[in-house]
Amino acid sequence: MEVYEAIKTRRSTRIFDKKEVERDKLNQIIEAGRFAPSGGNSQSTHFIVIQSEEILSELAEIVMEEFAKMDITEGMYRSLVASINASKRGDYVFHYHAPVLIVTANKTGYGNNIADCACALENMMLMANALDLGSCWINQLKWLNQNERVVAFLKRLGLNDDEIVCGSLSVGYSKSESGLPNRQVSKRTGNPVTFVD
Ligand SMILES: Cc1cc2nc3c(=O)[nH]c(=O)nc-3n(C[C@H](O)[C@H](O)[C@H](O)COP(=O)(O)O)c2cc1C
Repeated sequence: MEVYEAIKTRRSTRIFDKKEVERDKLNQIIEAGRFAPSGGNSQSTHFIVIQSEEILSELAEIVMEEFAKMDITEGMYRSLVASINASKRGDYVFHYHAPVLIVTANKTGYGNNIADCACALENMMLMANALDLGSCWINQLKWLNQNERVVAFLKRLGLNDDEIVCGSLSVGYSKSESGLPNRQVSKRTGNPVTFVD
């Protein structure tokens, strides 16, 4: 797939098939993330790749319980409110049952930690699309990256003491008739461009 086509046809997938992601495809996605640029070439993004259904379920349960404890406040980010409300209802699975969740973390005090992880996440989304896999950026673990219970659980999975979660990515085959991700190009109505000649 041409790069421009991969960029234009990349869409978020939120309904996943249980089908396992082949190891060679997963490796290519992770390598695409690892080859993203980083500030000062620091290469400090840490990829924690979770494929265990049991661990993913346990993590989803903890996330739901922790969101359910939170109060909704005025001006709170809309998506966070939706996560809290769904969690209070008891039917929230933040990673959409994807068979793979790639958590990106970076050094806590490093000024480019989120920017570097964002570059890696975008590279991985494009690679997933090129490999006929769906993906979706998942921000819930970032919102909970100060939550003691979530952090303790992630540390058991390999998060280091000097790292903070910046974002994560659900990856898997789309549960569509064709098995392919939705690739309908979405119109741009924002993102203004100012040319200065
Ligand atoms: C920084 C960032 C955070 C996002 N967080 C979430 C999320 O937590 N859950 C989710 O379902 N989608 C999340 N998304 C996906 C966006 O909702 C999605 O990219 C947007 O609606 C445009 O749709 P498209 O990806 O299909 O083009 C996130 C995207 C970005 C860039």
